[in-house]
Order: sequence, then C-alpha cells, then structure tokens
Amino acid sequence: RVLILDFGSQVTQLIARRVRESGVYCEIWPYTATIERIRTFRPRGVILSGGPASVTEAGSPRAPEAVFALGVPVLGICYGQQTMCQQLGGEVLPSDHREFGRAHVDILEDCALLRGTWQRGGREQVWMSHGDRVSRLPPGFRAVAVSEGAPYAIIADEGRRLYGVQFHPEVVHTPHGAALLRNFTHDVAGCQGKWTMAGFRDMEIARIRAQVGTGQVICGLSGGVDSSVAAVLIHEAIGEQLTCIFVDHGLLRAGEAEEVVRTFRGRFNIKLVHRDASALFLDALEGVADPETKRKTIGRLFIEVFEEEAKALGGADFLAQGTLYPDVIESVSFTGGPSVTIKSHHNVGGLPERMRMQLVEPLRELFKDEVRALGRELGIPESIVGRHPFPGPGLAIRMPGGITRDGLAMLRRADSIFLEEIRSAGLYDAIWQAFAVLLPVRTVGVMGDGRTYDQACALRAVTSTDGMTADVYPFDMGFLNRVAGRIVNEVRGINRVTYDITSKPPGTIEWE
Ligand code: XMP
Repeated sequence: RVLILDFGSQVTQLIARRVRESGVYCEIWPYTATIERIRTFRPRGVILSGGPASVTEAGSPRAPEAVFALGVPVLGICYGQQTMCQQLGGEVLPSDHREFGRAHVDILEDCALLRGTWQRGGREQVWMSHGDRVSRLPPGFRAVAVSEGAPYAIIADEGRRLYGVQFHPEVVHTPHGAALLRNFTHDVAGCQGKWTMAGFRDMEIARIRAQVGTGQVICGLSGGVDSSVAAVLIHEAIGEQLTCIFVDHGLLRAGEAEEVVRTFRGRFNIKLVHRDASALFLDALEGVADPETKRKTIGRLFIEVFEEEAKALGGADFLAQGTLYPDVIESVSFTGGPSVTIKSHHNVGGLPERMRMQLVEPLRELFKDEVRALGRELGIPESIVGRHPFPGPGLAIRMPGGITRDGLAMLRRADSIFLEEIRSAGLYDAIWQAFAVLLPVRTVGVMGDGRTYDQACALRAVTSTDGMTADVYPFDMGFLNRVAGRIVNEVRGINRVTYDITSKPPGTIEWE
C-alpha cells in the first residue's frame, strides 16, 4: 500500500483515486503525520501532494525528513517535489514564468516513472499549476523532462528511488498521468495491484463480524447509496443481528418509500422498520418558510423518531453509518479562521453523539464511486447504486416558502417527469443531480382559450465531482422544451417552467 502525505492541494483526493484505480490501497494523511505513525502503516511508497503554500516562505510545510530515509520510493508532486528538493539540498525560486493550465513537457531521458508510455524525445501534455519552481537539483538527481516554465518538470534519483514532477499527473488534463502514477506504485514501489472490491468486501465482512460479535446493530436507512450499501454489507456479515430503521418523513420523491421497502425487505430480506412519520413532519413544517428552520425542524424530528424506534426495538449495541472516506480525511487547510455555515446539513450525523453507541462504519475507507462499485458487487440494483445524491431534508428544501401537501404533490409530479425525460434521453449518468423546484410565485399564462394564474417551477441539473462546486448541465433547447411542455400539460397548478443556469459558486446546488 501507498501513503499520500497531503500538503493541502485541492486535488489530493484525485491522487488517491488514481492509485486505487490501479488496484493499490492508499490513504491520505496530513503532512504533519509523525514518522512513527508512518512506519506503522508500512507503506511501499510515499507520495507528497501539491499544496497552496510556497516553500520559499519561512514556516511553510515540510515533509517529515525521515520519509526520505525510509528506504521506500517517494514521489513528490508540485509542492511535494519542491519541498523534497529543498529538503534534500536543492533550491527553489519564485518563477517569473507562472504556468497555469495546459502545458507541454519535453522528455529528455528515459526513467522508470515513464516506462511504457512516455518516450525520450517525446512531447507530452500535462497540467501545471505553479509559481515557484526548482532551480537547482539536490545531489543525486537528474532532469528527465523540461517545460517552458520548469527546467525540472520531471526529476529522478533512481539510486534512492526518489522522483518529482512539477505538474499534476492525477488530473485528467494530464492524459498519461494515470500511467505515470501506476508506474510509480507498481514498477517502482512494487505494489501488485490486487486491491479489488471483491477483496474489500470479504475483508470488511470479517472485520464487521469481529467487531460486532453477537451484538445487535441498528442502521438508519434512507434509500440513498451510502446507507443502502452499508446495510447490505452488514447484513451479509451478521444477518439477523441487523435491523434497519427507515424514517419516512413524507418528503421523499415519487415512489421512493415503496422502493426502499420493496428492495430491502423483499430482495435482501433485511429486517426493516418502516416508520411513516410524514404526518408528524408535515404538521411541524406547516407554514415554515425559513430554510434553516426547516432544516433544523427536520433534523430534530428525525432524531426523535429514530430514537423512539430504536427504543421500541429494545435498543442495540451498535449504530451503523455510511460514513465515507472524504468525511474522515484529516484535511489540511491553510485558510484558517472559522468557516461560515451556509446550510446546516441534516443526515444521521447527529445521532452517534446522542445515542452513545459504538459505531460500525464499513465504508469509511471508500470514495463515493468505490461505494457504488461495492454496491454492484453486493448485487444492489442499479436504480439505487447509480442514483443521484438526494438531501436528507428532501423535497422540503426544494420548495421555497411554506410547505404544503398540495405543493409536495405538484413538485413530485414535475420532478418525476423531468427525471423520466432525462433517463429516456440517456443523460442520467452524465448528470450529478437533477431535480425540480416548486416556486412560491404565481404567474399569468394562457392555456387553450383560458387565462391561468398558477405556480412556476424551476428545473436544476448540474455536473460535479463532489458537490463542492458545480456546473450547469447544457441541455439542448429541444430537450428543455419537451420537459416544459410535459410539466405544464400534465401537472395541474404549474403553468411556467424555468431552467436554473447558476453555477456553484456563487449558487448552491439546492435552492435552500
Ligand atoms: P448545496 O445545496 O449545499 O449541496 O450546494 C451540496 C450537496 O449536498 C446535498 N445536500 C445535503 N445532503 N443533507 C444531506 O445529506 C443535507 O441537509 C443536504 N443539503 C444539501 C445536495 O443535494 C448536494 O448534493
């Protein structure tokens, strides 16, 4: 396995993705990790990530010195290359030629990192993002490639198996970057690439059995990808010792609650408590227009209902959660200062502190797409595994203004028409999230010979890799016309459809 030391780059997680895609298990740790801790991880190779700081500034982050003497190969990427060079006796200077975006490197020499793809004398497209650059190599290193802005775009000390690249091999804009990383992990570090989802599943099942013993586990099921995969995996491990609690808050999309019950009870034979709490939630939300009040109300009621159901089951020893790796990475942040709460997120996050139970978190080492792969491995239907993210507070935050039962019914119909059209156009998997929003605005329209005065609805569809930023999906006009036509004709109460063309930032994905 491989250890990635993080210097705070925006794309450190992509390094881990690429390494794992090549069948090698890896973890991301902050650069401040102690050498003792690193030794216990027993990495076959170490990758130093990029980062926003400048090694030319006093007090900027450094790799633990002993990393270079561990006897395992080290690959420095961007900032990682620069700090490695400076720490080993080279020199880094601020450059007067900043490189940002696509660039080309000329390959001067062959090297183990480049075997099989990058040839001496060749020119390769890479993605650069740097101001500083290495200006003098440390003893033992040689230059393998140059770019316009970096005389040492790729460097190597093959005796000590230390390598550095100024560009980012982990991003897709470096077309052969994945091959370079693979060469590092396989050829240089000697990893075999045997880490597969089938192997992970077996290992994790054994781990769950060892942790839980004869104890009882409860799991909050929402129908989303993460909790579904966690539940099915735990069920494979401990069968009847698992009970799932599905709190239906009445804010789900059309047909969703039925699908959850059918899938988990019917197909997987999992013990499932289905609590229809929609009346409780909808009564409490009646007339509530403020987005944060909606979120807090839903979060509070969810915990109350969940606790009630857990008590009714006679309690349990463990609480299962679908926590993912991005939530547990100790992220390195140089921005400092408290961040502003944009939205208070509701999921089962508040439960563990409240319920003081031991946690079972079988997905805490996985990225989202790995969870999907594991779900497929477990035979979970594509309609669940490949599904778009859906927020905990559900349709409540897709209906600005007060929530009404009639409004919810309209929103469900408009939303399902939009998704139906997206699916039949074959666009579902190209989109991160798509949904309708019911607006608290009435506008005048004309249908047949009559005047209408009905509500407007907005459609939202975005692409994203992690939900942190998002771009608007560029539908063609014909598609949007078709959806708008169907919604206005088929959903009584909606007479106008708009398409939201705001990216994130400055917008957020959800409207509230
Ligand atoms: P925003 O609207 O903040 O959403 O751009 C980013 C991503 O998070 C989802 N989201 C939530 N997920 N509980 C959740 O589990 C929540 O309270 C919540 N609010 C937003 C949103 O759907 C998008 O994928």
